[in-house]
Amino acid sequence: MEILLNLRQVMFISLYLCACVAMCESFLYSVPEEKKSGSLVANVLKDLRMDAKELSARRARLVSKSSKQYFQLDPHSGDVTVKDKIDRESLCGQNEPCVLLSEIVLEKPLQLHRIEVQVEDVNDNSPKFSKNQFLLEIPEQTPVDIRFPLERAEDSDKGKNAVQNYTLSPNEHFRLDVQSHSDGSKHAELVLEKPLDREENPQISLILSAVDGGIPKRTGTAQIIIDVLDNNDNLPQFPQLEYKVKLKENSPLDTLVTKVEATDRDFGSNAHITYYFSQVSENVLRLFKLNKHIGELTVTGTIDYEESSNYVMKIRATDGGGLSAHCKVIVEIEDENDNAPEITITSITSPLPEDSSPDTVVALFSVTDVDSGDSGRTACTTEVNLPFVLKPTENNYYQLVTQQPLDREKASEYNITITATDRGSPRLTSTRILHVEVSDVNDNPPVFEKPFYEMQLRENNIPGLLIGFVHAVDLDTAQNAKVTYSLLPGKVNDGPTSSYISINSETGNLYAIRSLDYEEVQDFQVTVRAVDSGSPPLSSEVPIRVQVVDENDNAPFILYPLQNGTSPLD
Ligand SMILES: *[C@@H]1O[C@H](CO)[C@@H](O)[C@H](O)[C@H]1NC(C)=O
Ligand SMILES: *[C@@H]1O[C@H](CO)[C@@H](O)[C@H](O)[C@H]1NC(C)=O
Ligand SMILES: *[C@@H]1O[C@H](CO)[C@@H](O)[C@H](O)[C@H]1NC(C)=O
Repeated sequence: MEILLNLRQVMFISLYLCACVAMCESFLYSVPEEKKSGSLVANVLKDLRMDAKELSARRARLVSKSSKQYFQLDPHSGDVTVKDKIDRESLCGQNEPCVLLSEIVLEKPLQLHRIEVQVEDVNDNSPKFSKNQFLLEIPEQTPVDIRFPLERAEDSDKGKNAVQNYTLSPNEHFRLDVQSHSDGSKHAELVLEKPLDREENPQISLILSAVDGGIPKRTGTAQIIIDVLDNNDNLPQFPQLEYKVKLKENSPLDTLVTKVEATDRDFGSNAHITYYFSQVSENVLRLFKLNKHIGELTVTGTIDYEESSNYVMKIRATDGGGLSAHCKVIVEIEDENDNAPEITITSITSPLPEDSSPDTVVALFSVTDVDSGDSGRTACTTEVNLPFVLKPTENNYYQLVTQQPLDREKASEYNITITATDRGSPRLTSTRILHVEVSDVNDNPPVFEKPFYEMQLRENNIPGLLIGFVHAVDLDTAQNAKVTYSLLPGKVNDGPTSSYISINSETGNLYAIRSLDYEEVQDFQVTVRAVDSGSPPLSSEVPIRVQVVDENDNAPFILYPLQNGTSPLD
């Protein structure tokens, strides 16, 4: 700079020598800007080659060429001093050099000396950006080495005091490349060194500093805010690939089964997720509904454990950019005790002979319950104090067997209530009534109403007279209770019984066969047998005594003296 000034000084002097008529010499001085009033710029005595006395005698004056007088001359000392503080930037702006012209006027003889004062720049201005903050939008995954030119900082100072360099706050993505131009100005470019990832860091804030070359250096800063623009570079993600949930059967409509939720690290529509069923069966579509916006899975049909104990469905989450992820939802249906046990009769023996031996199988049936777990576990009972008992066999089969001898004559039929109960909560029960008839066996003989009969018959009866009747009762039924009567063979007065008396086999009525004579037969005894029609038949017998009652059918007979020669007894 000094070399430059000296060259210029020489140039000006020579120019002056050519053009000067009245003026003899031209002096060049310099002063830094911003000096306060009274600061010394130069002493002109030496340059004018005269002493102070002569200077004042010749009434030396300093006259400014511009409207404003920046300097003053002390004629007694020859000192040129600053009169008014000078701001180089307002005076000359960008022009360089900044020179103020004055003349020293001397009288006797009149002499003009040109004074040039170069106002030197002082680093009194900092570099300045047009804004405090610059916004850059850079898509994520922009390739490295891409450059982003930055705005220059301005510095009113000149030369060395102007912007010399730019620096950037430390960061991992960008470096700064400072470019120099032929006019000495510089500008900086951001160079991407490491790819941006919006999901990691959506916004980056950097401080750009412009540094000038003054002593001391002055800096100006601006903030650079980089908004990283989203690319759909992330798939939606489910926090878990498999959701296992339990659902009670018969859950009411709109019951929330589960909520799947995928996240997407991208931004905006790239992160907007919609949920869909993916490859699911018709049953799933019939029973479940998926809210596509919020991923809630709800019930829309009747959930029946007995129809299916679990449902598997795939759900797809798709973001606004078309990227998808899948998850699996496994819904396990929990059984409710909604089915009562069912009694199925396999066989039944009815009528059942009353002489069946103990352990005879009366009925075979099974109990089933389609529910699972305790709800499907069953127990079976029947009434106590029956001659039957339940015998469980394998696979929920039961036998109803006789436990005690049966007696049709006491109970001819049974209504046996079978009760099956499961162990669910609440317990469910079902009943079946087995109607068992007991069939008759000829196990009862006819029994006469009396242990023996006595009948009376007046003598001289007419033959065929009804003497009386016998009656036997048989507790059995039908043929087994059909009784027929007969007389057992016997003798009355050497004659066969049958010649005296007969019996109606069906009614048991007894008739006299002939007229009886008391004087001949006073009484006699017969035996009647009652036989039922069973097989084999059973019978019983009863004795009957028939008394012949005397009638006055003979005149008195004098035994002595004999009325005639015949004796009553011969
Ligand atoms: C500009 O600043 C950078 C960082 O401080 C430094 O490495 C570089 O040497 C400087 N350039 C000049 C020309 O001073
Ligand atoms: C058994 O049930 C039948 C039909 O309901 C009824 O007619 C009969 O009287 C019942 N028998 C007994 C012994 O309860
Ligand atoms: C004697 O008595 C019997 C019996 O009554 C009679 O039959 C008979 O004729 C009598 N004889 C005479 C001789 O009277």
